[in-house]
Amino acid sequence: MAEPRRLVDLDDPPGASGLKHGVSAVDKDCGRGVSGWSHQLKPDGYADAVRETVSVSGFMVQARSMLSGGVSEDTLRAVGRLLGDVSRETGFVQEREMRALHGADSSFTVLQTDPDGLTLMLARFSPDEETPVHDHGSWGVACVVKGRDRYRHWELREDGRLRLLYEMELEAGSFVTWLDPPLDIHSQQGIGEAALELVLFGKNVTTIPRHYYDSTTGEARTALPR
Ligand SMILES: [Fe+2]
Repeated sequence: MAEPRRLVDLDDPPGASGLKHGVSAVDKDCGRGVSGWSHQLKPDGYADAVRETVSVSGFMVQARSMLSGGVSEDTLRAVGRLLGDVSRETGFVQEREMRALHGADSSFTVLQTDPDGLTLMLARFSPDEETPVHDHGSWGVACVVKGRDRYRHWELREDGRLRLLYEMELEAGSFVTWLDPPLDIHSQQGIGEAALELVLFGKNVTTIPRHYYDSTTGEARTALPR
């Protein structure tokens, strides 16, 4: 499992203090249990080849189980390692979903969202321009599927200004995690080409207004994700 390469570490990373909520082990509304993966045979020209694949719904079940004891830096990193592993599985991210994001105006597509908010998205980050500094109102785990990403993590200081805490480059299979607000402020940009990433959130962030910050002044505006 490739770990993210930290380029700049200006201060200690944010701690887990104040983290309170977890994710229920079983999504009762969905009626899903925590019983492992879905498997299927994938004919690929070798009659006796049996390739194990992991489905998005199977990943969500496993992630829910891993987070049921509480959301912390440790449990999010465990989910990140799992996301890195499954992202390499053929078919986990469908080619049509990758193609739909290439060159599209939209910057994300929802792969699965559960009634309690646990949501997996596929997101695209342009190499042409860094995203605004923003938050999501939720913890998150982002894992690169294709391309490379420069991830910057920010802190909102008491005086209302932003401070860059660290910056790292993510490549395929490597991931970054962030905790619940106010520890979820970041910006991202593809390096050389668009970066495609799987991002798991504790809430359906597509329906939650987020803050977009001016990185110089710290001034924030609130809007739904674009
Ligand atoms: Fe984000």
